[in-house]
Amino acid sequence: MPETVRGVDHAGAGIGTPAACPQGRVSLVGAGPGAADLLTLRAARRIAEAEAVVYDRLVGDDVLALLPAGCERYYVGKARGHHSVPQAEIGALLARLAAAGKRVVRLKGGDPGVFGRVGEELAALAATRAEVEIVPGLTAASAAVAAMGIPLTDRAHAQQLRFVTAQLCREQGTPDWAALARRDETLVFYMGLSKVAAICHGLRGAGLPNDWPMMLISHASLPEQQALVGTLADMPARLAESPLPSPCLIVVGSVVAMTHTSPAAPTVMPTSVE
Ligand SMILES: C[S@@+](CC[C@H](N)C(=O)[O-])C[C@H]1O[C@@H](n2cnc3c(N)ncnc32)[C@H](O)[C@@H]1O
Repeated sequence: MPETVRGVDHAGAGIGTPAACPQGRVSLVGAGPGAADLLTLRAARRIAEAEAVVYDRLVGDDVLALLPAGCERYYVGKARGHHSVPQAEIGALLARLAAAGKRVVRLKGGDPGVFGRVGEELAALAATRAEVEIVPGLTAASAAVAAMGIPLTDRAHAQQLRFVTAQLCREQGTPDWAALARRDETLVFYMGLSKVAAICHGLRGAGLPNDWPMMLISHASLPEQQALVGTLADMPARLAESPLPSPCLIVVGSVVAMTHTSPAAPTVMPTSVE
């Protein structure tokens, strides 16, 4: 895999002085959770230098506003009621833009390496002569817990951290609930809004207590951010009463209980913390 990543000379690429790349350059850039001021400096620099951008639904308008005038824009996310552009077509588009010698930015929400299908895009670019790099971004889990004033791990609460795609509940049969139901761990489910009841049921069935803390955070870091804090037993009902929009992250673990005492926790949430 590493041989597919032809390095970019970061040292020579200062702000406003894009490095020459006659064979094209593709930067797989993490756009972070949405707020433009949570972009990394390197991501902001690549965006400012972009001649073509390929982006999807989770990239916020504030981030897109940083693209230079004249930058070609290709939206490949899911439109309402439609499927996303197939991954093979995205790979072919990136390869075509790179072959035209452009500085291409493939903008992805969060960190491109976390449930971001980066491997398939690297594979599609392997046959090109373009420079290819990955620019990391702040993943939604980091932004979500920070917005709630709590950490992902804590010496007293969680010594382990696991990111799980809730698509597991659909594509590959039943998740290994027994392996996931640990009291010393923070579990973060991505893409799980429609699986909340299944997750609660699975974890309770595998031995976590009914009052085990859980929270849902929608649009973390953005003005429309909303959160629900509750337990494995009551979260499905809370969500039915106060539906949250996508994108939404699910955090399970005793770190969630720290929202009770954290001076950095938001004072107003849609439902009270019990
Ligand atoms: C395909 S995954 C991409 C994850 C992304 N690469 C990252 O590192 O955050 C999409 C899922 O990320 C989560 N997500 C992304 N941005 C979010 C945000 N601002 N607030 C809450 N969840 C978010 C949601 O669970 C969403 O369904």
